[in-house]
Amino acid sequence: SDNRPIVIAVDGPAASGKGTIARALAAHFGLPHMDTGLLYRAVALNLWRWGGDPSSEFEALRACSAVGVDPDDPELRSEAVSKYASAISAYPSVRAALLERQQEFAGQPKGAVLDGRDIGTVIAPDAPVKLFVTASAEVRAQRRVRELLARGMPAHLEDVLLDIHARDDRDSSRKTAPLRQADGALLLDTTDLDVDQSIAKAINLAEEQLARA
Ligand code: DC
Repeated sequence: SDNRPIVIAVDGPAASGKGTIARALAAHFGLPHMDTGLLYRAVALNLWRWGGDPSSEFEALRACSAVGVDPDDPELRSEAVSKYASAISAYPSVRAALLERQQEFAGQPKGAVLDGRDIGTVIAPDAPVKLFVTASAEVRAQRRVRELLARGMPAHLEDVLLDIHARDDRDSSRKTAPLRQADGALLLDTTDLDVDQSIAKAINLAEEQLARA
């Protein structure tokens, strides 16, 4: 009904379904979409390829320069890169180095959909639509195993579950931009929902927030 940009912030823990939901919202509203986790993964992959040390903030920050993302690079999703990404995303200097790209993307005239951990809290706190997508750790681990097996990668439920707990702890307990439900964000728990149900619910919640904005 008006021309205000539609900025949609989708945050949540690993394997919650936030990426799938963000892509579906982007298609529904005709908006560009950014998976911000890919930026952290690209930095992590750079560092890993150089043989850099993820426990050094200085080396992690160097890995931010000239970071290019080929979203189809399968190495971005590897276990090693996931661990590095979770480690380097705790550094304030790394987060600051990636901030502008994300805010520029969010500032496009029509708006945009961004998914990550801190979109509703830090990157776009004034977004008219904010969702916090969660699911139980067990269900998220099962989804991740299915996804890995479908890509022909080895996966064991116990290992994946431990990894998800470890990442949840790291992402939620870090000092800078920890994972949390933003003020004004609506909770979408996908534990008992399939993909189509999750998407339908997300679209309903987004329409509801837009009507109130
Ligand atoms: O969403 P993902 O699993 O691809 O994200 C990889 C890592 O990057 C994750 O462990 C936390 C970090 N991340 C972040 O700190 N902030 C974001 N906006 C997106 C991802």
